Amino acid sequence: MIPKQMLDAINEQINAELYSAYMYLSMASYFEEKNFQGFAHWMEVQAHEEVEHAMKFYKYVNDRGERVILKPIEGPPTEWESPLAAFQAAYQHEQKVTSLINNLVKISRELDDYATEAMLDWFVTEQVEEEANASEIVEKLSMIRDNSNGMLMMDRTLGQRGEH
Ligand code: FEO
Repeated sequence: MIPKQMLDAINEQINAELYSAYMYLSMASYFEEKNFQGFAHWMEVQAHEEVEHAMKFYKYVNDRGERVILKPIEGPPTEWESPLAAFQAAYQHEQKVTSLINNLVKISRELDDYATEAMLDWFVTEQVEEEANASEIVEKLSMIRDNSNGMLMMDRTLGQRGEH
């Protein structure tokens, strides 16, 4: 059994993780169109990761004998002013996801739901990495600005991102 308030919040989080996948896929397609294949690849890998995050919650809810209730997923933006603007949006989004995860931890503590609190540990650590990855790219793109050599180099580097 998962307390109802906790279960509802986890179901909301599944929606948020799937929205993240939508958003990163939308960014991937934006980069494809601009011929930044490396940036697009990075975003596709990120989209896969977000589906994995959703699946971790999905599996947890099922393992505890509860039902996952899927809600409609909002459509993400489709345009950004520049590659830098897209990564800034990604970074801001990850900061928001971190606060959502922190809120889940808070609820689990208030309800003495120790199993959920333990499960959330992985996400607390993961969010540190998620924010660090996006923030590092924002910083580099801010330095590069419109330098085309720098952009091509960055595109090559991000194109080498592995699945994890
Ligand atoms: Fe699932 Fe990027 O947080």
